Amino acid sequence: MKLSPMFVILAASAVAAGAAPVTKAVATLSPTQGSSVAGKVTFAKVDGGVKVSVHVTGLKEGAHGFHIHEFGDCSAPDGLSAGGHFNPSGEPHAGPKDAQRHTGDLGNIEAGKDGAATLEYVDARAAFDGPNNILGHGVIVHAAADDFKTQPTGNAGARLACGVIGAAKGE
Ligand code: CU
Ligand code: ZN
Repeated sequence: MKLSPMFVILAASAVAAGAAPVTKAVATLSPTQGSSVAGKVTFAKVDGGVKVSVHVTGLKEGAHGFHIHEFGDCSAPDGLSAGGHFNPSGEPHAGPKDAQRHTGDLGNIEAGKDGAATLEYVDARAAFDGPNNILGHGVIVHAAADDFKTQPTGNAGARLACGVIGAAKGE
């Protein structure tokens, strides 16, 4: 069957009208095997990117690598099922403020003596559409600090918590 161009245009706009664009997303972080690290990350569309708000508990004091990983799959006990860093543009590993980076390179979170880490910043690369769409990908908190140099992982060590980024109800 050959569809007329007008039909295709009408069908496409019906799809666009039916699906409200995503403006908020959330990832609930659950401990990997042997870990007691858990938390929540929310993502909200703002001017200049996506605001990332993190609250994680159960950490050792200090810096911990924090990334979006390729797969929204936390099924492996060690979190390795989430794959490597989300890197749709094939760039080197770096930090969130670097021009060349993985889209998943969100940097480090810093835990205090109580083991809790909070962070809020606007990420210029993350998005809810296009090639840098973070929806459905994984979030990992690591045992060690990301050094922003070691390729392709930042040498951040074991995976202590894992979650999947899902669309949330908008404002
Ligand atoms: Cu990671
Ligand atoms: Zn990376």
